[in-house]
Amino acid sequence: MSPPGFPRPGPPRVLITREDLGEGVRRLAGELSRTYEDGVVLVAVLKGSVLFLADLVRALTIVPEVDFLSISSYGEGTDRVRIVKDVDADLAGRHVVLVEDIVDTGLTVTYVLGELARRSPRSLAVCTLLDKAARRIVPLDLQFTGFTLGDDFVLGYGLDYAGYYRNLDLVAVGDLDALRSDPRAYVESLYGRPRGEADGLVSGPGAR
Ligand code: IMP
Repeated sequence: MSPPGFPRPGPPRVLITREDLGEGVRRLAGELSRTYEDGVVLVAVLKGSVLFLADLVRALTIVPEVDFLSISSYGEGTDRVRIVKDVDADLAGRHVVLVEDIVDTGLTVTYVLGELARRSPRSLAVCTLLDKAARRIVPLDLQFTGFTLGDDFVLGYGLDYAGYYRNLDLVAVGDLDALRSDPRAYVESLYGRPRGEADGLVSGPGAR
């Protein structure tokens, strides 16, 4: 049920369909395969990049090494982040590509790039599925970009709101006011059935 006074919004606008996502991922995989014939370590940022990474690696024609790191914000209302799970691979002398689901203000990628650069990689690049270029606070060079968006808040294909919507095979625009008043505002329209709290989709504070 919606909280009183907040009618549930209609279905969100689909921005990128499953077919378009597939096409974008294949294009990026082609670019990476041509650039890194000598090998590459793909470092994905948990959790949002996992769907993108899974499709990306299957479309590569080279053999990548895959590693993960996890970051968390210090708490509500702060942009500061810290690494809570570091990569396992030794990155020294390796070509490294940071794989992200979305670059928004650029603060997260800037922080992670700084951390990775300290490990003396041979080269360091960013591959992001989505780029909200208009919202950038920190100037950034993104070498591999799937789709450039406006400043809409988007959901699906790894991107969540309070843990919901990650497992959708599309990217849709969410109304942040509607989501703030009811994080499950689009669950019924996007998943086709009501889902309760017991589905366990809600993640803890600071989870990405
Ligand atoms: P940053 O502002 O570039 O540091 O992005 C921080 C993080 O915010 C991203 O890695 C995502 O986890 C999240 N984020 C930014 N924009 C969106 C969005 O439109 N939908 C869902 N998550 C987002």
